[in-house]
Amino acid sequence: MEYRHLGRTGIRVSELSLGSWITFKNQVNVDAAVEIMAAAYDLGVNFFDNAEAYAKGKSEEVMGAALKKLGWRRGSYLITTKIYWGLFDGVNEKSTLNRKRLIEGINGSLERLQMDYVDVLYCHRPDKNTPIEETVWAMHNIIEWGKAMYWGTSEWSAAEIVEAIAIAERHHLHKPVTEQPEYNLFERKRFSGEYVRFYKEHGYGSTTWSPLATGLLSGKYNTGIPEDSRAGVMKTDWLTAAVTDQEKLAKVKALEPIAKELGCTLSQLSLAWCLKNPFVSTVITGASRVEQVHENMKASDVVDKITPEIMERIDVIFGVKKENDD
Ligand SMILES: NC(=O)c1ccc[n+]([C@@H]2O[C@H](COP(=O)([O-])OP(=O)(O)OC[C@H]3O[C@@H](n4cnc5c(N)ncnc54)[C@H](OP(=O)(O)O)[C@@H]3O)[C@@H](O)[C@H]2O)c1
Repeated sequence: MEYRHLGRTGIRVSELSLGSWITFKNQVNVDAAVEIMAAAYDLGVNFFDNAEAYAKGKSEEVMGAALKKLGWRRGSYLITTKIYWGLFDGVNEKSTLNRKRLIEGINGSLERLQMDYVDVLYCHRPDKNTPIEETVWAMHNIIEWGKAMYWGTSEWSAAEIVEAIAIAERHHLHKPVTEQPEYNLFERKRFSGEYVRFYKEHGYGSTTWSPLATGLLSGKYNTGIPEDSRAGVMKTDWLTAAVTDQEKLAKVKALEPIAKELGCTLSQLSLAWCLKNPFVSTVITGASRVEQVHENMKASDVVDKITPEIMERIDVIFGVKKENDD
């Protein structure tokens, strides 16, 4: 496993990491979580991602209970969580980054995770109705109280992050250090657009999500929805629509010969493509079973096989034009 700095921080994160979205609680109970996390940890993963909204707090409970059973040294791994959507519908508790919510939120997450601090606390989305200054101060205080080591953003625009950094610098507060954006073969416009200059100038970290486009890029949906897959188990409209999108499925199928040529699986190729981006600190993978962890963690071996020629062929499949093209 290779380790990359989380932006300009002194912390190094395994370039492949593991998250619990949808899986923990819905598909994975505590015993299965123990197995999945142990498989990842044994292969060098040191970064485990969660969020208070995942399974309405139950995902944090499952991870907390699994960690208790695993008994790892706290210094040997990083735990992250995120706050924004909230667990209740109260007027100050939903889709907000106000000070009260953030502080109550981190206290709840720590209780469910059964820990004293998380390593990165993310603002899960930007909040257009709370002044960024209020959010920056609250995140700074949470760090000062020792409840989080660092803080970050998820799906914030470059302009919002730049504003948060400027406020923190003005008041000598802890700055956000990393984004958590979606990034995969289908979703790359931010990285090739608004984030390019920003990442270069600010050295911001990047912990990217849904590298397999929620499983689609593994090829498992090429001939329908398997019953034991995420879409088969969850049966939600948006997931069904996402994994039956014929245009996308055609692209996944067109990728197959390249994976074959490189001697790897579609999942490994798709993850390796994410790893190829030097601005990515860690690619957060998801897994519903141990075998997937074993397969996915081998993606690092594929990175060097993605030559400029292969990259070009992939771009053609995904309809990406060269920078100088009209
Ligand atoms: N910040 C945000 O807003 C945000 C949003 C979403 C996710 N995230 C984070 O990113 C993490 C990863 O996202 P994701 O779970 O959507 O990642 P993903 O890699 O796109 O999808 C993971 C799912 O694909 C299937 N899969 C994984 N490896 C496979 C393999 N080798 N072969 C076949 N199927 C395979 C598994 O589902 P099945 O086996 O059930 O089919 C697995 O749960 C999340 O856990 C979360 O921590 C963050």
